[in-house]
Amino acid sequence: MPVNSSQAGVAVRVFAAKAIDAVYRGRSLKAELAATLPKIHDVRDRALLEAICFTALRQRARYDAALKSWLQKPLGAKDGELHALLLAGFAQLDELQLPAHAALSATVEAARALGRPHQAGMVNAILRRAQREGLPPVDASATWPQWLKRKIESDWPAFAGAIFANSAQAAPLWLRVNRRKLSRDAYAEKLDELGLSFTVDDELPEAIRIDEPVAVNALPGFAEGEISVQDGSAQLVADAVAPAAQSRVLDACAAPGGKTMHLLERDASLRLLALDVDARRLQRVGENLARNGLHAELRQADAADPAGWWNGEFFDSVLLDAPCSATGIVRRQPDVLLHRREADIAALTALQAKLLDSLWKLLQPGGVLLYATCSVLKDENERQIDAFLARTPDALAEPLDARFGHASGAGRQCLPGEGGRDGFFYARLRKRLAK
Ligand SMILES: C[S@@+](CC[C@H](N)C(=O)[O-])C[C@H]1O[C@@H](n2cnc3c(N)ncnc32)[C@H](O)[C@@H]1O
Repeated sequence: MPVNSSQAGVAVRVFAAKAIDAVYRGRSLKAELAATLPKIHDVRDRALLEAICFTALRQRARYDAALKSWLQKPLGAKDGELHALLLAGFAQLDELQLPAHAALSATVEAARALGRPHQAGMVNAILRRAQREGLPPVDASATWPQWLKRKIESDWPAFAGAIFANSAQAAPLWLRVNRRKLSRDAYAEKLDELGLSFTVDDELPEAIRIDEPVAVNALPGFAEGEISVQDGSAQLVADAVAPAAQSRVLDACAAPGGKTMHLLERDASLRLLALDVDARRLQRVGENLARNGLHAELRQADAADPAGWWNGEFFDSVLLDAPCSATGIVRRQPDVLLHRREADIAALTALQAKLLDSLWKLLQPGGVLLYATCSVLKDENERQIDAFLARTPDALAEPLDARFGHASGAGRQCLPGEGGRDGFFYARLRKRLAK
């Protein structure tokens, strides 16, 4: 990771502190980064800002424990940005392993730039101590709110420790090669030429996994649509839907369009309707399709209320990539653990059930509904599908193979970090033919 100790380097630390503080105050990390990154010129500085924010938030329990024992007097309510800057400083010295001198001086300078000249000495002293002593370990579950920790421990008693530990690790970059444009081997050669190390996975025909941090828009062919970013677990969804050529497919919660694109890259003959309730996110589906010269019908609508948009023509396949707690992708969205409330889970499971019931009615007898979430909670997954099957006599769960993870009720669950992949749940539901 390059370090720039000039003004730009200080600016990156200032932006990082402001973004982390905003996330602590309830803003989403994605929204904060979307607002901040365009203010930074250099692509390496943008990558550094992201790396600092992600690491600080993933490791915040450990960093906060160190602060608690090292600070003579706890930080006050008005010290949010300073607290965030200290976390950003720890991230640079700890997981990111930046050269200490430059990281330290830019971070101390950032304290001054944040209007805290009187606390710059304290920042310097704390960061020097971190450099000398290292940041002591804490249990990886310490970042998780108690109620959620208990749920995971009760749902996955044998795997809870691994879920917490893997969720604290940086996620790899997964690419999906657009085989309409070039083969995976041909793209892999391009990466070879750049000297980048990567892994290919026999189970995922379009996937390439890069474990070292790289800026995706600096990769060859990104702007030309040769590759997209998509986790391996999300790439498996296309295998689970497996629609027939020219069939009519509904992608009911489509934005930003990763799975829509994948399905169409595999088979542009699909008659695909991509729906999302969020107009701005749906716009991104349109942009992604245009970037690749693919076509789908797009519609901004509530999938749970088909009366408002459905034309009466049944679908052969329905993909319900449902809104969920995102507890399987904490390594990519560490702010989930700061923002998720216990009451959210009941609201989400009710919405998922409503979506399942509404969309089922639009499915052709003999057709398949693929239910997927990036959650690890059984309420949203195994128990959600068990309840659906119990109240839906014409639904039949079809087996998915072991690539999809642990058997979990009528579906399968990949847990975070397994095979380098995100936590994901899949259930394949066939509508029985009328007798
Ligand atoms: C997990 S994300 C989908 C990701 C997407 N399938 C992809 O692969 O890029 C869930 C999506 O559901 C959408 N959503 C939530 N409630 C919805 C509803 N009632 N009807 C349609 N879309 C909804 C959200 O706006 C969000 O874009």
